[in-house]
Amino acid sequence: MSEHTSIHGQWSSRLMFILAAAGSAVGLGNIWKFPYIAGENGGGAFVLFYLLCIALVGIPIMIAEVMLGRKGRQSPINTMRSLARSENGSPLWALLGWAGVAAGFLILSYYSVIAGWALAYVARSVAGVFNGATADGVQSIFTDLVQDPERLLAWHSLFMVMCMLVVARGVRHGLERAVRILMPALLALLVVLVVYAFFEGAFSTGLAFLFQPDFEKLFFRCETIGGVRQCDFTGDPMIVAMGHAFFTLSLGMGAIMVYGSYMPKSSSIGGSVMTIAILDTLVALLAGMAIFPLVFANGLAPGVGPGLIFQTLPIAFGSMPGGQLFGSLFFILLVFAAWTSAISLIEPAVAWLVENRQIGRARAAIMVGVTVWFIGLGTVFSFNIWSGEAYQLFGKTVFDLLDYLTSNIMLPLGGLFIALFAGWVMQQPSSAAELAMKPWVYGVWRVLIRYVAPLLVIAVFLNRIEVF
Ligand code: PFF
Repeated sequence: MSEHTSIHGQWSSRLMFILAAAGSAVGLGNIWKFPYIAGENGGGAFVLFYLLCIALVGIPIMIAEVMLGRKGRQSPINTMRSLARSENGSPLWALLGWAGVAAGFLILSYYSVIAGWALAYVARSVAGVFNGATADGVQSIFTDLVQDPERLLAWHSLFMVMCMLVVARGVRHGLERAVRILMPALLALLVVLVVYAFFEGAFSTGLAFLFQPDFEKLFFRCETIGGVRQCDFTGDPMIVAMGHAFFTLSLGMGAIMVYGSYMPKSSSIGGSVMTIAILDTLVALLAGMAIFPLVFANGLAPGVGPGLIFQTLPIAFGSMPGGQLFGSLFFILLVFAAWTSAISLIEPAVAWLVENRQIGRARAAIMVGVTVWFIGLGTVFSFNIWSGEAYQLFGKTVFDLLDYLTSNIMLPLGGLFIALFAGWVMQQPSSAAELAMKPWVYGVWRVLIRYVAPLLVIAVFLNRIEVF
């Protein structure tokens, strides 16, 4: 195999890599997940810690993933194996690739169900169901949907078919065109929503919730029961914030590594990664700024959970001028954002199947897609027939467990090992040559990847374990 390109193809330019990786990063995580976990974890301090994790852990690890991918030029499993060999590391590093494939399957299994909600909301917005809807009306539209396993299954299936189609067509044809137009459109629409929230929502309350840190909330969960305030120590907000930094940047499982393997040799890795991370963070913050003013203006609770955007944004679309059009466009763009992320979740597995089993992309995409569809049934049922306590473990449904396990444990662990490999196993001249950064930038990256990122991940893990 040539050292300079991947057998799976290559992005046509550096811009295409940025768009594709941003397509992977920007998705349900930014628009659906970030607002509801910020709501559940108390807002400001959580958001600040999340931003800190993006800067000190996410960005250096993303640089490491792209670098490893571009140097290895194969699926993450084979890249890790061959880099471990050339850098005199243990062949066991290939396990990191395998863990990533497993995480990708598990994440996509529930990601697809939520993307199915977004698809269902496209149909509802186009049909004008939200016109003039009140907070209660919107709430019951949401409940009706998630309590119906057949409908959820149908939308989940449709989304999985969409993913298999694009992955089957391959890197260039499947992806590049979609991202170029959709990403800017999504940003523009989010800005429209923030402007609406500014005029019609409780903007200053929303912003204060999102940006005014109350550090107690990082460590304690307080409730007022019978007039008495009770606080319990919790390690959750920090681990959820850190887990989300990995999730939102698509890190720790090989998605960015595999996209890096299709990157032209001459492009700058550091600059591309900064652009992607800034764009991703901007989208999440804009989503939060659109949603929380509406939450407070309508007397809703910020901590309602995964239904948050589906229970708030339709209220805005129901009353704003042109709401039917904006609402339809918004959910269509949300589906596209989810789509471009979902395909990156299975690309590592598909690339490996093509390399090692000598089968075509189409067959590989179908094999992976069907398996993921099947695992997704657990999430479909989590909101209805399996929502009861009899089907829960540690008070969590299958969906909650999958989300917790993947975002908060598997991705940060994967990221930790990627940092250790890039910082400690890989020889300095190899990483310096591949990154080709200004010496001081490389120096900063090296300190972050060797010390800061691993120690922060370990500290957050230990903090959580102590609480158990
Ligand atoms: N980054 C995506 C999002 O924020 O929606 C989700 C994701 C994609 C996570 C790819 C992990 C991944 F490998």
